[in-house]
Amino acid sequence: MHVFEAIESRRAVKHFQANTPMTAAEQQQLFDLARRAPTAFNLQHWRFVVVESPALRAQIRAAAWDQAQVTDASLLLVLCADTQAWAKQPEALWAAAPQPVQDFIVPAIDGYYRDKPQVQRDEAMRSCGIVAQTLMLAARGLGYDSCPMDGFDFDKVAELIKLPEGHVISMLLAVGKQTQAPWPRGVQRDEHAVIIRDHF
Ligand SMILES: Cc1cc2nc3c(=O)[nH]c(=O)nc-3n(C[C@H](O)[C@H](O)[C@H](O)COP(=O)(O)O)c2cc1C
Repeated sequence: MHVFEAIESRRAVKHFQANTPMTAAEQQQLFDLARRAPTAFNLQHWRFVVVESPALRAQIRAAAWDQAQVTDASLLLVLCADTQAWAKQPEALWAAAPQPVQDFIVPAIDGYYRDKPQVQRDEAMRSCGIVAQTLMLAARGLGYDSCPMDGFDFDKVAELIKLPEGHVISMLLAVGKQTQAPWPRGVQRDEHAVIIRDHF
């Protein structure tokens, strides 16, 4: 599928065919592609919690306004991030770079994030947003639809997945085979309202 077609055909789908799990090979391809998504300083903050247990899916659905995508999706991800990724051996992620680059980047990472919880959280959320769209477009390429979701009780889902300290949940991402067309596309804001040239 051409990238333009993937972008145009991605919609937030609400109804998926139940009991149609994504194969291990498809999941592998999806995650191989998603992990190519860019992250600041190559920190790869994302942690993809693949919810396989039907009982856990049901509990998450109960915490997510009873949205059917949660139980019916072929793949349900709780898209999380490690806000402390910057402090966990970032030098290993730069080992393939020329030495002068390593010497510059590794200390810069520390300076950018240390003692800046808001920056740490913002960065984690940015990374998750980018990888979520990468996942959704890759899913289109594999013949799947998707729905990004933040309509849920974050604290409850954190408890259910045993979210570790220093991690955040960005969103749920349901991927599946659609059984009903999505609602008509929403009204798009006028391009002049959203594209600003030079300054507001
Ligand atoms: C961060 C985020 C959270 C969303 N949460 C939900 C949700 O909880 N349930 C849902 O049905 N759709 C959810 N959506 C889908 C949006 O409503 C949808 O993307 C938007 O209306 C535009 O429609 P489209 O994606 O089909 O173009 C969410 C989308 C995003 C990006």
